[in-house]
Parts: sequence; C-alpha cells; structure tokens
Amino acid sequence: MMRIRSLLAGGAMLLTASLLLARTHPFGNAELYQPTRPVPIMQSTNVPQSVRDTLQTKCADCHSMQTRMPAYGKLAPMSWLMERDILHARTAMNLSQWDSYSLDDQDAFKAKMLSEVKSGKMPLPQYRVIHWRSIITASDVEALASWANQNSSVSSAQPDLPADTLRGKDVFQRRCTGCHSLDENREGPRLRGVYGRVSGSVPDFSYSAALKKAQIHWNGDSLERWLTDPDAFVPGNDMEFHVAKPQERADLIRFLKDLGPVQP
Ligand code: HEC
Ligand code: HEC
Repeated sequence: MMRIRSLLAGGAMLLTASLLLARTHPFGNAELYQPTRPVPIMQSTNVPQSVRDTLQTKCADCHSMQTRMPAYGKLAPMSWLMERDILHARTAMNLSQWDSYSLDDQDAFKAKMLSEVKSGKMPLPQYRVIHWRSIITASDVEALASWANQNSSVSSAQPDLPADTLRGKDVFQRRCTGCHSLDENREGPRLRGVYGRVSGSVPDFSYSAALKKAQIHWNGDSLERWLTDPDAFVPGNDMEFHVAKPQERADLIRFLKDLGPVQP
C-alpha cells in the first residue's frame, strides 16, 4: 500500500515538474501555447489543391505558424525538442510567409521541397513515426514535381540576352543545388566537368538504366534538350525537373561549360 502511494506521488511530481519545465524554452520560444492567431499557408498564392493538401497535412506543423499541438507537446523535454525543430523549420522555410517570398525564392523552395521529399529527408523521421499520415506517397511526389516544374515567372521562347556565366551560376545555386553539387554526388550526380562528358559516366553514382544506356555526349545542344524536357529526351530517366525559361537554360549551360573539366 505504501509503495503504491509513493509511486503515485512520484509520478505526480514528475508530471508537475515536466509541466513546469515546459514553460522554459531552452532553444527559443516557438509560442506554441500562447493563443497567437494561426496564419494559414500560402494565402494569396494559386497552388494546386493536391499540393496545398500535402503541405498542409505533412509540412505545416513545422513549416508554418499553424502548428497543431499534440497533448504530450505540453510536457518537457518533448516540448523542447519540438520547439527546436519548429523554430529551425520556420527559419529555413515558412509557408505562412510564402506570399512575401520573391518569385525566384519561391521557385528555389519548390525545387528544394521536391528534393527533400524525394530523398525521404522530409518530413523529419521523428515526426513520421508519430504522425503516420504524414508518410509521403507517390502521388504526393508527382503533384509536387509538376508544381515545382511550373515557374512562377513568365517565359519567352528565346533568350533575350547573351548567355552569361555569372547569371548561370546564380540559377544553378537556386534551382539545381537542391539535388546536385559540383563535386559531390547527392540526389543527382556531381556536375563539374559534365559539359564534354558522356551521360551516366560518374562511376560512383547510381544512374537510371535509361540515362546510362543513352550515351549522350553532353554539349550545348544536348544539355538544352535535357534541361528543357528530360523525359522527352531520355524517357525513363530519374531527373524529375526541368527549366522552363530559355534564358535560364542558356545561362546555366554557359556556366557548366565554363567550369571546365575536372582537374586531376
Ligand atoms: C517535424 C518538423 C518538420 C516537418 C513535419 C517537416 N520539416 Fe522540413 N525542416 C524541418 C527542419 C528542422 C528543417 C531545418 C533543417 C536544417 O536546417 O537542417 C527543415 C528544412 C526544410 C527545408 C529546407 C532545406 C534546406 O536545405 O534549406 C525544406 C525545403 C523542407 N524542410 C521541406 C519540407 C517539406 C516539403 C515537408 C513536408 C513534406 C517538411 N519539410 C516537413 C522540420 C520539419
Ligand atoms: C529533383 C532533383 C533534381 C534537380 C532539382 C536537378 N536534377 Fe539534374 N539530375 C537529377 C538526377 C536524379 C539525375 C540522374 C538521372 C538519371 O540517372 O536518370 C540528374 C542528372 C543530371 C544530368 C546528367 C548528368 C550525367 O552525369 O549524365 C545533368 C546534366 C543535370 N542533371 C543537370 C541539372 C541541372 C543543370 C539542374 C538545375 C537546373 C538540375 N539538374 C536539377 C536530379 C535533379
């Protein structure tokens, strides 16, 4: 009898301590408990409904001012870990502020979201374990991919300006580095020296059978076709991305060319 009573007392003390500790915010206060006004995501942006649903149900808890708080979120140290993730996530990308991002930034975030989701890095694993409905389906990826491929800004059929390396570098940083780096393989193969090499030839990257078999010589023409519509050029390839603006393609190709071959 004594033992049960002291166990209960111990439990109650722990619970109280945990509730009290949750009022301190070692990683910063995400204002999860204050009755702040929840800000809906992408209020004045036209987003396909399927994409909006995915982002709302699977990403908005961390990436917006619309966090739904589970009951255990009121208990430390769970609350601290959640606050930390949410603050980091909102800093990286806040869907409640989407409309205030520039069109270029929106394009960059779209490409990043696609690559984070495809590579299974997002939503964070600790979140997927608890929110099993947040598991990403093939149709989520498909909807995100077709949205990410529509540029927010208008496009013309021909580049207006001569191709420019610096602009190309900028486009590369914004639109390609979600999946590629120059010197390391990521979701896509490393790209330094791609101009002039044969498709599918980075030895330690695992390409689609389609691209390996294609044996394309990467030059101005072939890169133009690839970046315009990879699926039309090499059906069955793994790059779910394209660049709709001719000017951006021209600048990118100039940048990739000017990088030169890989130094031994
Ligand atoms: C449990 C919280 C959580 C959920 C849910 C979540 N994220 Fe994140 N996300 C984070 C955190 C934390 C970071 C910052 C990570 C870092 O900086 O290392 C982040 C970063 C990102 C970034 C920026 C990456 C970069 O390199 O700048 C993107 C894009 C992203 N998340 C997309 C998504 C998408 C899309 C979803 C929904 C499918 C999602 N996230 C769901 C926590 C979350
Ligand atoms: C969503 C991820 C993703 C994005 C964004 C992306 N790529 Fe890729 N890329 C890939 C993947 C995956 C492959 C390998 C395709 C295959 O194996 O079929 C690839 C392959 C390539 C190749 C062929 C490389 C070789 O060794 O044959 C080139 C060139 C390329 N990408 C250029 C770009 C450029 C330039 C951008 C930016 C405009 C870009 N990619 C954006 C994922 C991506």
